[in-house]
Amino acid sequence: MKTIADLGDLRGRRVLVRSDLNVPLDDAGAITDDGRVRASVPTIKDLADQGARVIVCAHLGRPKGEPDPQFSLRPVATRLEELLGQPVAFATDTVGESARQAVGALEDGQVVLLENLRFNAGETAKTADGRREFAEQLAALADAFVSDGFGVVHREQASVFDITQLLPSAAGGLVETEVGVLRRLTEDPQRPYAVVLGGAKVSDKLGVIDNLLAKADRLLIGGGMVFTFLKAQGLEVGQSLLEEDQLDVVRGYLQTAEDTGVEIVLPTDIVVATEFSADADHEVVAADQIPADRMGLDIGPDSSRVFADKLADARTVFWNGPMGAFEMAPYADGTRAVARALVDITAEHDALTVVGGGDSAAAVRQFGHRDDEFGHISTGGGASLEFLEGKTLPGLDVLED
Ligand code: 3PG
Repeated sequence: MKTIADLGDLRGRRVLVRSDLNVPLDDAGAITDDGRVRASVPTIKDLADQGARVIVCAHLGRPKGEPDPQFSLRPVATRLEELLGQPVAFATDTVGESARQAVGALEDGQVVLLENLRFNAGETAKTADGRREFAEQLAALADAFVSDGFGVVHREQASVFDITQLLPSAAGGLVETEVGVLRRLTEDPQRPYAVVLGGAKVSDKLGVIDNLLAKADRLLIGGGMVFTFLKAQGLEVGQSLLEEDQLDVVRGYLQTAEDTGVEIVLPTDIVVATEFSADADHEVVAADQIPADRMGLDIGPDSSRVFADKLADARTVFWNGPMGAFEMAPYADGTRAVARALVDITAEHDALTVVGGGDSAAAVRQFGHRDDEFGHISTGGGASLEFLEGKTLPGLDVLED
């Protein structure tokens, strides 16, 4: 993979950096988890320190190809400025007058952030023809391109993919680090290798389960997706999330796991509630006793102990997806227990623990853990899953030598 060093002397050159600054905002527009902004800082700083004129570009949310104030990157510019410790100019468009002026005014070592790339329909257009003009306009702003938004390298989009055909291009430090860690999970991981999967839908994880059933020693399953597993085993799941159309697929996984000796660990008890609300009546029931009028919103305390136990001797762990609706206090304990178990084995055995996906990363920070208590917190949710599925990621493929 080409790296920043391959771009040569950057002093005085305009370098376009694609970062992933897609952070969650609350109703008032404040950033609730700045992990991706922090992860983007080292590469931007490195380029600025080398004397480049740094043009940062990124997306936020999924606006519909036109300006939409609720998806403005302006709050991110403010946070980036604080974290970088130097001014960050903000262009109120992507490739228009504001961007051209801001870029033209840059001096060596200075930084500008462009407005949300997805305010332009060309960014996410499905065809290369549809993206070409926007990619060319972006390319016209710069002399070189650095791809550092690991969370978007699975997207065939103008600022990730097409731009690399138009400018000398290289991977940034964050993309290098992420790829390095995920390779360690796919090539000869230290064993036991445990994978913890959660989140709402099993259908989002099919590819990764397929692939990991051939690589991992244990698969621990929680979150909304677990109810499709419980149902596939013949249990009743009440009002819990269920993907009926995936039941056969899941039965196939359970069979494959049995045939190949991969241990699938499912919860033994569940926190059930009358509705999806922090104030709802809730209680712990055995996993085979979920009442017809209740929904499961977290794994129970016995399951948390079992999961922690199954992680205690692991030397490699990949975790994607919370164990329950952790944003609400009554349903946070399962996710908290998994986070704790990973922190413990990282400290005690130097296990390689990788947390992937925005929700899991936000959860560990919500519980007060520092990023360095884990082996690695990936900035990519979909991207890390697709990498582990063994897929070719368009934004990485184009950076190969
Ligand atoms: C993410 O949040 O996973 C990345 O920023 C990609 O965003 P997208 O799924 O909207 O393309």
